[in-house]
Amino acid sequence: MDVLANSRVMDMAIDIKGDYNDSMDIIERYPREKRYTLAILQDIQRKYDFIPREVMVLMSDYLGMPISDIYSMATFYKALSLKPKGKYIIKLCNGTACHIRGSESIREELETILNISPGETTEDGLFSIEVVNCIGACALAPVMLINEKYYGGLTEEKVKAIIDGIKEGHR
Ligand code: FES
Repeated sequence: MDVLANSRVMDMAIDIKGDYNDSMDIIERYPREKRYTLAILQDIQRKYDFIPREVMVLMSDYLGMPISDIYSMATFYKALSLKPKGKYIIKLCNGTACHIRGSESIREELETILNISPGETTEDGLFSIEVVNCIGACALAPVMLINEKYYGGLTEEKVKAIIDGIKEGHR
């Protein structure tokens, strides 16, 4: 583990402030054995949509293993995230049909408007971008899914209007 990651882990040990008490219900479903670390992390990810560092501290204590080991596992697996996702999770399709119809320029537009890259969340916690494979709406290509809603036939202008509309609803 590099020095930066190590110092983040040190921070975790002294900074338990979130309300994650109910995470113990998940953790305690498993025996106190290291081999259950990933299974617990997956359950935690499902519950909170990310892995709060406070929960890693609790896991470390319960499993009797260094936080650095839990941190390493949480950063290794792509399905696990150390950061909370946005209120609006934008899943931009980059499957074949969408790619052919310009999903790359839609991605660039999203990145420009929101000032984040795929896998990141805006500072206000409103948006996250994920690039995904076919989401089964090829006839609408290029298409994105924001939470449960499909937006198809995207153009750069349309994307901007959609994002502006959502932002407007939060003023
Ligand atoms: S390729 Fe994008 S929805 Fe199928």
